[in-house]
Amino acid sequence: MYSEKVMDHFQNPRNVGEIENASGVGTVGNAKCGDIMRIFLDIDEKGVIRGAKFKTFGCGAAVATSSMATELVKGKTVEEALQVTNQAVMEALDGLPPVKVHCSLLAEEAIHAALWDYAEKQGIVIEGLEKPRADIHEGEEL
Ligand code: FES
Repeated sequence: MYSEKVMDHFQNPRNVGEIENASGVGTVGNAKCGDIMRIFLDIDEKGVIRGAKFKTFGCGAAVATSSMATELVKGKTVEEALQVTNQAVMEALDGLPPVKVHCSLLAEEAIHAALWDYAEKQGIVIEGLEKPRADIHEGEEL
């Protein structure tokens, strides 16, 4: 049911943890399954993502998509990181079963929320980035 890549990223997730004084932090949740994902981005002065980490309290697919999403955004500019959609994450994982598509959406939303936080802190506007839903607030325990 799961691709080898999904199993690999679930069993050996990359970039687990936190970044202290992160440039941007995004936390999102899915009200139905109750899963929560938090992504930390370290962005340099040129707007390039030099580090990404995550903490996910959720299902295996949520862990695998967080792992892949953090891998995909590393080295990208903030504008390029917007192209790391849930579709892109799923493709990179060789697909997900239909009932698990919402897990990959969480990864996209968490990246967007972290970019939004970064933009707010910098006082800049990232073209094409929309304000994330605010049903989870920073500081809540994961
Ligand atoms: Fe909800 Fe996977 S079941 S994030």
